[in-house]
Amino acid sequence: MPSRKKVRVAVIGCGVISELHLRCYAHNPDAEVVAVCDLLPERARFAAENRAPGARWTTDAAEIFAAPDVDAVSICTDHGSHAALACAALDAGKHVLCEKSLAVNARDLRKMLAAEAAHPELVAAGVFQHRFEPLPRVLHELVAEGAFGRLLTAAGSLYTFRGADYFRKDAWRGTKRREGGSALINQAIHYFDLLLWIAGGAESARALSANLAHEGVIETEDTIAVSLRLKNGGLASFVTTNAGIPQWESQLSFQGTAGSVEMRDEKLASLVVADKKAEAKVRARVEKALEAGAKLFPKGKDYYGTGHQAQIDDFVRAVRTGKRPRVTFSDAAETDAMVFAAYASAARG
Ligand SMILES: NC(=O)c1ccc[n+]([C@@H]2O[C@H](COP(=O)([O-])OP(=O)(O)OC[C@H]3O[C@@H](n4cnc5c(N)ncnc54)[C@H](O)[C@@H]3O)[C@@H](O)[C@H]2O)c1
Repeated sequence: MPSRKKVRVAVIGCGVISELHLRCYAHNPDAEVVAVCDLLPERARFAAENRAPGARWTTDAAEIFAAPDVDAVSICTDHGSHAALACAALDAGKHVLCEKSLAVNARDLRKMLAAEAAHPELVAAGVFQHRFEPLPRVLHELVAEGAFGRLLTAAGSLYTFRGADYFRKDAWRGTKRREGGSALINQAIHYFDLLLWIAGGAESARALSANLAHEGVIETEDTIAVSLRLKNGGLASFVTTNAGIPQWESQLSFQGTAGSVEMRDEKLASLVVADKKAEAKVRARVEKALEAGAKLFPKGKDYYGTGHQAQIDDFVRAVRTGKRPRVTFSDAAETDAMVFAAYASAARG
């Protein structure tokens, strides 16, 4: 599309996360929200009247896909509906930004990747907003550059709590068909993604999972422990539960032959490089990145992180310029594929 025109966006799904998408598009001078859509008319109308003044609303996504004045869509619906909506949008010539998790199973993921490949003229981006935050970004670069030597191990965790009320509020949550899983694919997927992205990706996963405290409430896991073989030969582990005490506690650590680094609750917790001159340089890089990052972004809920604005700006830029977005469907799918590999392994016992 000509690069001077504003990107005309429709947001599909007007629940919790849509508010943040709408706020971020409102902050972007190169985008305007022209339509919102939700199966529930009251949600769609509320979003149009309160969060996207001037936008029209509908309950039928097909109307959005047929509309000539919509260039791009943000898909903010339950996981189980992402594949059908994203494929229909791309087939209708719309650029797509799809919330995590891209899909609920490997079959749907393949359909989305096929649609992405069939439409190289369109932007197909997956939301992993934490990849845009300064600390994960600089750690990704430093690990790739070998600042900590060859990576031996990486470990991650998210401990949080979701109660019965949370799962009963929306019918899709805690179901295999519409959420795809629970603790790993929903709350923990961001940290699982950062672990894999910073460590350079994984080639296989094994897992044990359980429903320890949500029996009769959800059919999916509330607790899972995953072991991963990294692409670089190292080994990694990730553990999460959404049945702990009410909190949101995350940890990611990376141990290489020349040093180690740890993030706790998205902040730098420790950084050690055997060569102290090299350590000073690495610390300076991290500090500079954090200073630059501190100036950015309005905040959503704290634990969503600060990256949505940066990711939506990146999506709008990609649509206007035809350049690759920072997280394509293919990029995001690497993490989804490991989620599904872990679930398949856990199901096999
Ligand atoms: N990136 C993040 O940090 C983050 C945070 C929260 C949620 N999310 C993701 O955002 C997505 C939505 O989560 P939520 O908490 O907002 O859910 P939600 O249940 O609050 O909202 C989803 C909305 O989508 C609507 N919907 C479902 N199918 C539809 C269709 N075919 N057409 C139109 N509307 C449809 C529902 O009626 C509902 O209002 C999920 O993928 C979730 O994982 C991401």
